[in-house]
Amino acid sequence: MRAILLGPPGAGKGTQAETIVKEFSIPHISTGDIFRQNIKEGTVLGKKAKEYMDQGLLVPDELTVELVKDRLLKDDCENGFLLDGFPRTIFQADALESALESMNQKLDYVINIIVKKELLVERAVGRRICKDCGQTFHISFNKPSKEGICDNCGGELLQRKDDAEETVTKRINVYQEQTEPLIDYYTKKGIIVNIDGEKPIAEVGKEIVAKMRNK
Ligand code: AP5
Ligand code: ZN
Repeated sequence: MRAILLGPPGAGKGTQAETIVKEFSIPHISTGDIFRQNIKEGTVLGKKAKEYMDQGLLVPDELTVELVKDRLLKDDCENGFLLDGFPRTIFQADALESALESMNQKLDYVINIIVKKELLVERAVGRRICKDCGQTFHISFNKPSKEGICDNCGGELLQRKDDAEETVTKRINVYQEQTEPLIDYYTKKGIIVNIDGEKPIAEVGKEIVAKMRNK
């Protein structure tokens, strides 16, 4: 299974990725997570990416594409992968297509999670992430049992710097301008699967898995 999760900030890509990768035993490749890990480790890539991420802008294509190409060459991607947050521009989508072609591979699905703008802002602003294990929660929609504490590992829950309301709005605008054209791009290729992302988390997950199993 080779699939992409497409959708605006806060649509639920990371949340649903957890279910999909378990169900199909494939690696979860999130460019956002890779950049955040690099920022945490203070790498050169992390320093460059941070300048853009803090402003709600996309990291330049030339930094992003090479990173993903290298990741797809790793052994664990042999039988498939789930890309989350990549591609985000037509340039990235074309680069992915050529990279897969050179490996004699092709995409099975592009899961497009649809959620209206007002809800996206509420979801992103209320998101909290465990600083130790990375588990995601929401202050209203996916509450931890104890406020501010991770159910998984007891770690502290923090807000992402780019989840401040102003930056979230900027990220949504950037998505509309630079990433939304990919819906048309993949619809023309006949591999898009549209999913109503406004339903509860478990229902959205079931719908995605059912549609992916149906091919
Ligand atoms: P990235 O980390 O990819 O962020 P994003 O695309 O903006 O997506 P989010 O992580 O905000 O949202 P999500 O859809 O995963 O939602 P989640 O499941 O957490 O990218 C961050 C930055 O990195 C970018 O701005 C850019 O700078 C850079 N970057 C990354 N990739 C790049 C690329 N390819 N090119 C260039 N730059 C790149 O859910 C959100 C909240 O809602 C959670 O609290 C969750 O609990 C809750 N929730 C989820 N589903 C539901 C539901 N069904 N009902 C109720 N609540 C729900
Ligand atoms: Zn944790």
